[in-house]
Amino acid sequence: MKILILGATGNLGRLTAQSIATRSPDVRLRLTSHRESGAADLRSIFPSAEVLIADWYDESSLRIALQGVDKILMVTPDFATDEQVVTPNLIRAVKATGGVSHLLRFICIPPAFSIDQLTNEQRETRCGAAMHLIAKSLLDSSGLPLTYVNVACWITFNLGWFIAPEVKASRRLLMPAAADAARQWVDEHDIADVFAAILCGDAKPHVGREYLVTGDRRYTFAQVAALLSEVLGEKVTYVDDDAGVRSAMGELFDKTMIYFSHETQAFSAVPSTRTAEELLGRPQIDLKRYIQEHRELFI
Ligand SMILES: NC(=O)c1ccc[n+]([C@@H]2O[C@H](COP(=O)([O-])OP(=O)(O)OC[C@H]3O[C@@H](n4cnc5c(N)ncnc54)[C@H](OP(=O)(O)O)[C@@H]3O)[C@@H](O)[C@H]2O)c1
Repeated sequence: MKILILGATGNLGRLTAQSIATRSPDVRLRLTSHRESGAADLRSIFPSAEVLIADWYDESSLRIALQGVDKILMVTPDFATDEQVVTPNLIRAVKATGGVSHLLRFICIPPAFSIDQLTNEQRETRCGAAMHLIAKSLLDSSGLPLTYVNVACWITFNLGWFIAPEVKASRRLLMPAAADAARQWVDEHDIADVFAAILCGDAKPHVGREYLVTGDRRYTFAQVAALLSEVLGEKVTYVDDDAGVRSAMGELFDKTMIYFSHETQAFSAVPSTRTAEELLGRPQIDLKRYIQEHRELFI
């Protein structure tokens, strides 16, 4: 079996390639980047994988990347992706190439949420649901053998980007109150393992399914600070301050805050699921364990 990971240099794409290589060493991996330097990184990290350059804005490069492939994973980056272009390119390339038995697409859409619930400003962010709702509508009508993994909550790598540096420096959790909500968290390794489990198994039980993967409980920023205090053994104080997001997002700060204005409302209705545990046959990594295992990020 040959699995193609489009965007294998990405946070989730790379972890998925690692998970597949560990779980199913017989699976042949084809990994792509749309940059020469990305392809070089992939060759050095995954010496036994086939590495190609493929750009989802260039349909012909997708057709080449799809030759001889059985299954595909696609994870698109926030803020940058024009789904009206890249998703039709992928659909056409899959249909033209033939032979693909399973396409796995990552999405982040609160259940029963529709595009008309987003303001124009929120849609223009091309972040989260603003991007995934466009892709899903196009993919749903494509007739392709699809599975969605829907993580309508926060991924734990956000801790490292937005929160950890200031916790380490001053034991303060700086996040703007305007972005606060009682959110669930999912570990990026669990998501990668879910992708790997779905892709390495028989496609049949998964085709046509959407798996909502969320956490076991919700945390406001103050509750994340309390959990950090408990695990690290030192008081971490939540402060309403946008410095962490500003520093992590740079010129994308304003768009990020607009995106948060959607998410802080819509994520409150996202149910807690045990889907990852059911798919993986092991407990999910909860926020407490993630902090324990990544203590060096915070202290
Ligand atoms: N942060 C959260 O809490 C959260 C929660 C739920 C869902 N999500 C979703 O997670 C996704 C992001 O996941 P991630 O962080 O793993 O993504 P990422 O690291 O940004 O990776 C995306 C990949 O896309 C590739 N790429 C970029 N432009 C490309 C192009 N023109 N052609 C082909 N490939 C291209 C990049 O590779 P190259 O540059 O090497 O080509 C990169 O490997 C988003 O869809 C977001 O909505 C995030």
